Amino acid sequence: MMFIVIEGIDGSGKSTVAKKLVERLREVHEVLHTWEPGHVREGLYRRLIMEDVDLPYAVAALFTADRAEHVRDMIKPALERGIWVVSERYADSTLAYQGYGMGLDHQLIQRMNEEAVQGLWPDITFYLNVPPEVAYKRIHGKEKDALEEQGIEFLRRVHLGYLEIAQMRGWRLVDGSLPPDDIAKVMAEEVLA
Ligand code: TMP
Repeated sequence: MMFIVIEGIDGSGKSTVAKKLVERLREVHEVLHTWEPGHVREGLYRRLIMEDVDLPYAVAALFTADRAEHVRDMIKPALERGIWVVSERYADSTLAYQGYGMGLDHQLIQRMNEEAVQGLWPDITFYLNVPPEVAYKRIHGKEKDALEEQGIEFLRRVHLGYLEIAQMRGWRLVDGSLPPDDIAKVMAEEVLA
């Protein structure tokens, strides 16, 4: 089985692509489609985070707590039963957003992530590469959550962070300006090869 993660900044089109990828993979395998934050405890941690995003440590602690439960209660059990997993966001979202975006110590985040994921790292991660200006336009006008309210400069830092992480971890970069169907097709071909 396979554990697949899709990362990207807000407005990169992750959810649309994830849905289409899951549809394709379900022709061949049983698949759990999941996401962070908020797929555990009916979104409790997500709501807590969005109430106050001023303290990077507190924000990272809540995201990694959400992750620890997500891994223990959903991802690990699925993989153990032979089910494939597609997750929108995972550990390196915290490194990109709270590390590169908010300036929290990277080693601290890495340590918190290690505790949360308990050795469970994705088999493959795709980064939906979209220029921050384009992504920002896509979310502009939509109702934004507290993190999205931080503006274009924040999104730029997160995007540059993601590119560094992608390089460091050997992620697949996907051109997020292509039609979602085409992106999902390329991804499915890669993981089913
Ligand atoms: P979502 O829009 O993908 O549901 O994610 C909510 C916001 O949370 C989004 O702006 C990205 C952000 N985020 C972090 O800042 N750190 C994290 O660890 C995760 C998983 C998401």
